[in-house]
Amino acid sequence: MAEFSIETFGAVERWTINGEARRNALSRAMVAELAQHVARVSGADRSVRSVVLTGAGAKAFCAGADLKERAGMSDGEVRVFLDALRSTFRAIELSDCAFIAFINGAAFGGGTELALSCDLRVMDEAAEMGLTEVKLGIIPGGGGTQRLPRLIGKGAAKDLILTGRRVGAEEAARLGLVNRVGDIDDAMHVAKNIVENAPLAVGLAKHAIDDGSHLDLDSALALEQRYYQRTLGTEDRLEGLKAFAEKRPPVFKGK
Ligand code: COA
Repeated sequence: MAEFSIETFGAVERWTINGEARRNALSRAMVAELAQHVARVSGADRSVRSVVLTGAGAKAFCAGADLKERAGMSDGEVRVFLDALRSTFRAIELSDCAFIAFINGAAFGGGTELALSCDLRVMDEAAEMGLTEVKLGIIPGGGGTQRLPRLIGKGAAKDLILTGRRVGAEEAARLGLVNRVGDIDDAMHVAKNIVENAPLAVGLAKHAIDDGSHLDLDSALALEQRYYQRTLGTEDRLEGLKAFAEKRPPVFKGK
């Protein structure tokens, strides 16, 4: 069976991890298939512009690494798995597509790291998140020690990672770990709002935020200017101005 169920809603795809019996844990096969889907929506065909990523069933978004598969792996195999995991999560960030994690249930370890590599997070009110690795004698290996502090600050990240504790939706929203608490319709609504906008502008804005956030302010402002310049010659910028003057919704082409 495919590791993901894919549904299409115009320029939005919903990807559901198909592993309810193992709480959507990250196996080697699942990471390999995720990498293929990310490459597909990030390639020359830009028809998919936002992805809502979620897990099958009500119990889990993703219970982290597949610990049963892990138990049979050599140290070398674990390293290969983690390399694949890191590069797949990075490909999500580098994609022009906007990724939204809908955290429908438990998201622990690699499950939280998967959500952290997405652009936005919507969380079910009964779900829980956590980087619980230290409880297993390891540390987050899918970018958690780096992405979490960049998102919520060093102090809050140390609180979560060093204790390994699980947080509910209310605290996750308060910490800025998730953008909002809601259901799958709310997550789909966010995706639909994004794809109404000019495609090149959305991609450039995403990369301006990601690429600039760790530069000094002058370098970051210069980077924003370079990305802004790239919108100037586009048909969509002219269409945006024309539609405004004609008091109608714009029709963007991604050109
Ligand atoms: N890897 C492999 N299998 C997993 C798994 C994981 N990360 N998490 C859960 N499963 C499996 C269980 O072993 C169980 O399999 P079984 O039916 O063959 O016994 C099945 O999924 C259901 O798990 P269960 O714990 O009974 O479900 P639950 O709905 O009560 O709880 C979780 C779900 C996610 C809260 C709980 O399974 C859990 O805490 N898992 C561990 C998560 C974790 O520590 N991840 C960090 C990895 S670094």
